[in-house]
Amino acid sequence: MRRLEAAALLLAAAAAVLVLAGAAEGLGVNWGTQASHPLPPKVVVQLLKDNGIKKVKLFETNIDAMKALAGSGVEVMLAIPNNLLRRIAGDSGAAKDWVKRNVKRFDFDGGVVIKYVAVGNEPFLEAYNGSFMKVTLPALENIQNALNDAGVGDRIKATVPLNADVYSSPARNPVPSAGRFRAEISGVMTDMVKFLARNKAPFTVNIYPFLSLYLDDNFPLDFAFFDGGATPVNDNGVMYTNVYDANFDTLVAALAAVGHGDMPIIVGEVGWPTDGDRHAKASYAHRFYDGLLKRLAANRGTPARPNRHVETYLFGVVDEDRKSVQPGSFERHWGIFRYDGQPKFGMDLSGQGRRDATLVPAKGVQYLSRTWCALNPKASRDDLGKLLGAKIDYACSNADCTTLGYGSSCNGMDAKGNASYAFNAYYQTQSQEDEACDFQGLALPTQTDPSTATCNFTIQIATSGAAVTRLGVAPVAAALLVALLQLSLL
Ligand SMILES: *[C@@H]1O[C@H](CO)[C@@H](O)[C@H](O)[C@H]1NC(C)=O
Ligand SMILES: *[C@@H]1O[C@H](CO)[C@@H](O)[C@H](O)[C@H]1NC(C)=O
Ligand SMILES: *[C@@H]1O[C@H](CO)[C@@H](O)[C@H](O)[C@H]1NC(C)=O
Repeated sequence: MRRLEAAALLLAAAAAVLVLAGAAEGLGVNWGTQASHPLPPKVVVQLLKDNGIKKVKLFETNIDAMKALAGSGVEVMLAIPNNLLRRIAGDSGAAKDWVKRNVKRFDFDGGVVIKYVAVGNEPFLEAYNGSFMKVTLPALENIQNALNDAGVGDRIKATVPLNADVYSSPARNPVPSAGRFRAEISGVMTDMVKFLARNKAPFTVNIYPFLSLYLDDNFPLDFAFFDGGATPVNDNGVMYTNVYDANFDTLVAALAAVGHGDMPIIVGEVGWPTDGDRHAKASYAHRFYDGLLKRLAANRGTPARPNRHVETYLFGVVDEDRKSVQPGSFERHWGIFRYDGQPKFGMDLSGQGRRDATLVPAKGVQYLSRTWCALNPKASRDDLGKLLGAKIDYACSNADCTTLGYGSSCNGMDAKGNASYAFNAYYQTQSQEDEACDFQGLALPTQTDPSTATCNFTIQIATSGAAVTRLGVAPVAAALLVALLQLSLL
């Protein structure tokens, strides 16, 4: 008896230490997989667990990810991509089917702990020109109703992650308390908020102080961070010292204006990229997260909602070298970990601001061989003149060269350095296939690392996206995988 009690005490003490060392309560991360060589799902789930991260938000149902998450205890926000909204909006049967195949199938003891379904991803983004304006709310309704019909609606809520551009605009909302939804969507936003409220579901918003800085050259740098150095914005006597609080409270005001000022809010994405722009760098990311994590851990809240706990998902886990760079070159560099699961900067997820805190790196990552592709030193002047530009263009349109641009880690190399960088990026993306390091004789593989003090010529990891895709499209293999999955889940 005594011994058992002692053991229980010891366990409790160990648990307390774990909690202290783990991530702040309510902290989640976004797990995007638009990479040429995504980390294996098992490695990612272990990475989450090793870092005490207990919540994850996905962008689609990936069977390997779900399999890796099963039994992990990590809570999941599943997602329905925008391209499925129309079908689900127009057909409640399609919604039921989606819930059956993506929720019910994994929803059992020892399965995946699904908490939310994200219906679409920022469907009202201004850049989409209203493409999803008519289908988003009906899709949300059909999915929540399908969840309710399936008997899980009390614990699994449908929500729509929206970009802060559904309300935020300095011109429209000079101070947070003046917050209103964008005029052309105010009708649908009002109906959506009412539907969410009826189903006790949260409002989900993505907030990006980095973008405030990126999009406006006159934006005061310090206002993007949490250290209070900026000239405050005075909102009828309430002082805002950072854009995050101001943005969040603009939403609170917009919700209040439609009669739901108390609706729970989830921050679906927040983060800071580390490359691809002069403001996208590890030191700023470190500064941003340090401030954010401290206030999350302290449940500090915002002036409109002080001392409130806010469920918050960082964006994102790892860099994604296949993301569209249409929003900007920084888009492929949002990871708190590099593409290979190595931490990029010091970070204390517990929010205690420990100076020496670091993230736990990914375990069991396999790399390709230590071979780079570089400009052939013997290439003739003539060939270089004739071919080099086109070859670099080809390499960079099929691989990630975003670090070469202005303000990025590999900017400022000479033309030869640029060429080697591009050739290597392509060669690694192609999993170091021999043909991928030729470029009509302009390139040669090398065992000498061409990296410079600031610019990494990376070696890719040995798990290729191609292999996963091949499994995915071969019906027999896919069926086998499903069978295996069901076996291992039972
Ligand atoms: C939205 O409209 C702009 C300008 O008319 C156009 O350039 C862009 O391609 C459109 N985007 C979509 C997603 O339709
Ligand atoms: C290297 O590439 C970057 C990005 O394309 C470009 O801005 C820069 O001018 C190039 N440098 C040289 C010396 O060609
Ligand atoms: C380059 O990679 C090394 C690890 O291989 C890492 O320590 C370093 O921070 C990286 N540098 C940049 C600029 O990404």
